[in-house]
Amino acid sequence: MAKPISLEKILFSQGFGTRRYCCDLVYSDLVKVNGALANDPEQRIATENLVVNVEGKDWEYHEKAYIVFNKPPNFECSHKTKHHPSVYSLLPSPFVERGLQCVGRLDYDTTGLLLISDDGQFIHKMTSPKKNIGKVYEITASDLITQTQIDHLLNGVVLDDDPKPCYATACQQISEKVLAMTIVEGRYHQVKRMMAAVGNHVAKLHRTEVGAYVMPHDLTEGQWRWLYPDDLKQLSQSVTT
Ligand code: URA
Repeated sequence: MAKPISLEKILFSQGFGTRRYCCDLVYSDLVKVNGALANDPEQRIATENLVVNVEGKDWEYHEKAYIVFNKPPNFECSHKTKHHPSVYSLLPSPFVERGLQCVGRLDYDTTGLLLISDDGQFIHKMTSPKKNIGKVYEITASDLITQTQIDHLLNGVVLDDDPKPCYATACQQISEKVLAMTIVEGRYHQVKRMMAAVGNHVAKLHRTEVGAYVMPHDLTEGQWRWLYPDDLKQLSQSVTT
């Protein structure tokens, strides 16, 4: 069992602000612990299954945060955006305060499964090209998708910035213009450039899977959800060493 820690440290670790601000939240009667009003920031609390309520909102305590987000279009996966608002503006502010980062980026117009975490090792593991983690993208193309194009994607295409070809590791045609394609690397605009290299064009791009983890069907666009140990187990099973 983890050692109990002070309420002030708990609030700070979860992204509720500076130590001082977290103490002030408690002194202002704005914090409840497991349903009861807390008045001592030094009070030591067990963190297992802990729920704090801050300014009327319940928060599960998570030593490290791992979330899945269904990214809507027209948001950039960056804290310093160039042309569109940030995906972080769609998340509760404690997540930004505690330094959550996207686990690999999606283009501003790509939608779907985005993992976000503040666990540096996890982010590294999930994004390392050496780990061979498959990512499945549902591509809606502008033109009909032909078998020749699919064969070309599976046999490898050379993109203009690297002589080493990149491959689709699986392709499943869903309809005349829709293809589910798996890739293991994460090169810049990779799917769009691969489709252009075979003579087609991506009209819409949506990510549905990362490794063995499939986007929950009931997670609607713009919604996020905590990942729990079973989800993380599924993700770590996708990693090859
Ligand atoms: N490939 C792309 O072209 N865009 C993405 O957002 C992800 C993969």
